[in-house]
Amino acid sequence: MRWTQLKTLLPQQPRRWLVTGAAGFIGSNLVETLLGLGQSVVGFDDFSTGKRKNLEQLRQVVGAEAWKRFLFLEGSITSLGDCHRACGGVDYVLHQAALGSVPRSIENPLATHEANVSGFMNMLLAARDAKVQGFVYASSSAVYGDHPALPKVEGNIGESLSPYAASKYMDELYAQVFARCYGFRSTGLRYFNVFGPRQDPEGAYAAVIPKWIAALLQGEPVHINGDGETSRDFCFVVNVVQANLLAATATDPQAWNRAYNVALGGRTTLNQLFDQLRTLLSVERPELASVKPCYRDFRAGDVRHSQADISAAQTLLGYAATHTLEQGLRVALPWYLQDWAASRRA
Ligand SMILES: NC(=O)c1ccc[n+]([C@@H]2O[C@H](COP(=O)([O-])OP(=O)(O)OC[C@H]3O[C@@H](n4cnc5c(N)ncnc54)[C@H](O)[C@@H]3O)[C@@H](O)[C@H]2O)c1
Repeated sequence: MRWTQLKTLLPQQPRRWLVTGAAGFIGSNLVETLLGLGQSVVGFDDFSTGKRKNLEQLRQVVGAEAWKRFLFLEGSITSLGDCHRACGGVDYVLHQAALGSVPRSIENPLATHEANVSGFMNMLLAARDAKVQGFVYASSSAVYGDHPALPKVEGNIGESLSPYAASKYMDELYAQVFARCYGFRSTGLRYFNVFGPRQDPEGAYAAVIPKWIAALLQGEPVHINGDGETSRDFCFVVNVVQANLLAATATDPQAWNRAYNVALGGRTTLNQLFDQLRTLLSVERPELASVKPCYRDFRAGDVRHSQADISAAQTLLGYAATHTLEQGLRVALPWYLQDWAASRRA
């Protein structure tokens, strides 16, 4: 299995990695794994949605020795100068910084465009000039838009349903153009509903799993948009970390300059997810066993069903998910409980 080999190989050949969006959810998980594998890591973030407390938690999790291999730069990808500064002397870039959320992009398309498209272009330019060996970037399942086919196969995409989806699609187009015009090597990863520790449960744009867990713990209503039969391919963040490291270090040229689905290849409805969360949480909190969700209108810009075909990532990157939805939830749940308790104390 390529992932097992890579985890053995990397500590023997330490490299310098840049993780943009390092104070965010996925970025901080990437930093944690890389430091654990003996790598040097530059973290880059402007804290627009990321949190200082994520970096503090990281420091505690990895320990003082590993933390010495971490350098944090506060700056914005919307500044080309900041991007050049961040890319200096770096071997691999894992570009995660962006403004997430479909509804946020519908409310403020300009902010989404600036971070996700102009910021992305700055990162491409800076990474190209720094001659990095690999550039992996976060795309999204949102690029499939209104294409009805299931499971989603990389080549079949429909019309974009939100500025967020359009921004991620533009990133893929620019990445391909940089390959053609400058011979620049990159890999896009289309994430499908990632969840795990350090995913923000707060705010209007919170993702469904942390939002529902927080609501259940606080005794607040859990809102399901639509009839609950909307489905998603939920993916634990540890699988996403694996895909990033495999993509960055892929040596087969056939694997380069493409976008890959990163998920489990499964499909879980919101009703099923609610049942699963309620069952897992009621072990600690038996009073939650009888809670019912509240149904409300469908949300603008949301696709109805989402399920990935992950065969391209399996074949070309050697990707093999290590955690199912349930296994991921079981690993993540203690963190959600601790985070909720800490936010109550604060
Ligand atoms: N979480 C998911 O389910 C999911 C699904 C598909 C795609 N993605 C993509 O994965 C990436 C990471 O998402 P996440 O869930 O970790 O979100 P997040 O909001 O936790 O992390 C994004 C990070 O980027 C930083 N950032 C935003 N704009 C910036 C700027 N201009 N300059 C520097 N830093 C900036 C934020 O402060 C934050 O720390 C994003 O590109 C997102 O679009 C996530």
